[in-house]
Order: sequence, then structure tokens, then C-alpha cells
Amino acid sequence: MTRIVKIDKENIDNEIIIELSHIIKNNGTVVFPTETVYGLGANALSDIAVAKIFAAKGRPSDNPLIVHVSNLEQLERIVEIIPEKAKVLMDKFWPGPLTLLFKKKAIISDMITGGLDTVAVRMPSSKIALKLIETCDLPLAAPSANISGKPSPTTAEHVIKDLDGKVDAIIDGGDCQFGMESTVIDVLNETPMILRPGSITLEDIAETINTVIYDPAMIHDTIIAKSPGQKYIHYAPKGEVYLYIGQTNDIKDAINKAAMQFINNSNKVMILGTEESIMGYKEGIILNLGSRTNPMEISSNLFSMLRKADELKADIILVEGIDEEGLGVAIMNRLKKASGGRIINCGDLV
Ligand code: TXA
Ligand code: MG
Repeated sequence: MTRIVKIDKENIDNEIIIELSHIIKNNGTVVFPTETVYGLGANALSDIAVAKIFAAKGRPSDNPLIVHVSNLEQLERIVEIIPEKAKVLMDKFWPGPLTLLFKKKAIISDMITGGLDTVAVRMPSSKIALKLIETCDLPLAAPSANISGKPSPTTAEHVIKDLDGKVDAIIDGGDCQFGMESTVIDVLNETPMILRPGSITLEDIAETINTVIYDPAMIHDTIIAKSPGQKYIHYAPKGEVYLYIGQTNDIKDAINKAAMQFINNSNKVMILGTEESIMGYKEGIILNLGSRTNPMEISSNLFSMLRKADELKADIILVEGIDEEGLGVAIMNRLKKASGGRIINCGDLV
């Protein structure tokens, strides 16, 4: 039985949080909202609890988990040192959607890190998440609260669909503010490297520390990614996702043509377009991701719309690619993974 509780983030009910903290302390699992996506939380210091996270999600054991803390004392309990560059970034971006790698202490088991000697940690800014962690007074391991491979959940309804009956409790705290996961950064080497692009952009980080690069594996899929999670097909609805890149007009023409062909072959087609070209699409179920001038809007709609494809039983999902800059890098990273490599460069078609 999964207990589902509504919590108002502006008026958090302490009694309920205390009850939920007992579940965590007894090695149970509680899904909680964060400012990025919902997380499937459990005591990061208990292997019994952490094993339940992997079981509920069907997650591969070599994909390490992010540990969530609500204060620096909790961080110091689990990491060897806090490097200078990490301090600077934590000052600027914590609490918030930035995850940093640290050398782990022995108290963090290999189960959390997938055998790596580093642990990924972040301090979320969501009031409900902070209150729950603070009340447990424990670091909480929490991957996104979806079945492994599916789009991350940005509403409690998404979580219930994936995990009802598989976790002890789900907090319904409304929609997530960002709708895109945290940025994962490694500052342990000479040159800080973004391992997973996310809600905080490379440009945001470069304002704080001069040199920062993307993990080359993000761009070239022949290189092995340093972040194990990056190698899996992810964020994928049941239907086939095709991602179109190139000039906006070429994309629109190519998607219209493909939609016709797929529909003629008796497929249910969904088109995810941007505000700027949405009126130009003709056939299929047409959804508006948001404006190209407002990637924040696109990122907060993205996972919901990929899940809509399943709800509406779309066989084929044709998606308009956007510019890979700023938040667009994270959006395109998720779309490329959702497409499993079905990427059509419209420049090659004309
Ligand atoms: O916004 C978020 O980060 C959400 C919320 C719930 O906090 N969490 C989340 O967790 O997205 P998850 O498990 O879905 O993704 C964690 C990512 C994976 O790509 C994983 O490989 C990477 O972080 N990661 C975790 N520990 C790592 C480590 N020690 N070294 C490299 N990558 C690591
Ligand atoms: Mg995830």
C-alpha cells in the first residue's frame, strides 16, 4: 500500500512530515517533490533502504544515485573534503539544481555510487524536500521517481502512474518549478566538467568559475560517459521518437511529410512543435512545447508532453529540435536520449 499525501509548500504540515520521516528512518521509501523533478527518497546511509529504490525503479545497479542534504553538516558526514571550487559553486547555486561530485567517505556504500569512489550530492531548494530531509536528519538518496527509462516525473500524477504500490509514500506537492533535472558537475579534476546538462547552464556556471567544459561523451557517443546514467536510453515514451534538427522551416516541412507517411501506414502520430511553427503543422496530434525564445518554458513542458504520448497511445512522436545553447543543451540531451538515436538532420534532406 502506498500512502499518498498532499502537502501545501506554502503551509507545510509538520505532523505529516514527522510521520513521513519515520517511514524513512525505518528504511522505507518516500517520493518527494523537488524544484527539478520528483525524487524517490530513502536513507542514504542504509543499504536496505537504498536497495528498495533500485527495486522500485527497476534501475541498473551500476547507475549511481544523487544524495540530497539540507545542511552542510550532513554533507561533511558523507564526503572527505569540500574542494575550493565546490565551495564557490555551492555558495552561488545551493540550495538549487546543481549536483556536485565529492570524494566519498566509507559511510556511503558502493550501492549508492555504483562502485565509484565519488558521491554526487545536491541541496534542493524545494521547501518540502528541505523540510523532509531536515526532519529525518539524514542524507536522502533520491533518483528521479520514474520507472527506469521513462521520462522524469514533474507532477504527482506522473509518479502515481509509475510507482503506486511500489513505494511506501508519495508526497503530492504540486508541479515542479524547473521540470528538468539538476546539472551534474565534476570539479575534482583540473578542468571542471559538466557530466549531465540540466537546469543550471554552462553559461551560469562560467560566470562563477572561469573554465568549465561539457563531458566530451555528451557530444560524441563513441566516448564512454563519466556519468553512468548518461549511457542508457532514457526519457522514452512507448512510441518511437524521431528528433528533427536543422533550420526551423526545413524541420517543419520534413515533419509534415513524415507525419503524412506514418499516418498513411496506420500509425497514430504526435507532433511536438514550438510556438513559432505550431500553426504550420497539418496532420496528427499537435502539441506546443513552448516558445524557442523561452527554453525554460520548453524544459518545464517536455517530460509532461513525452508522457502525454503514452497516454494518447501515440505510435510515432515527431519532435522539433531547438538550438543547443543555454538550457537548450539540456533539452536536446534529453530528446536525443528519448529518440534512441533516431535523429534526422534536415540539412541532409534538402
Ligand atoms: O534533479 C535531479 O537531479 C533529480 C532530483 C530528484 O534531485 N534526481 C535525478 O537523479 O535526476 P537520477 O538518479 O535520475 O540521475 C542521477 C544522475 C545519473 O545520470 C547518474 O549517473 C549521475 O547522476 N551520477 C550519480 N552519481 C554519480 C557519480 N558518482 N559520478 C558520476 N555521475 C553520477
Ligand atoms: Mg533519472
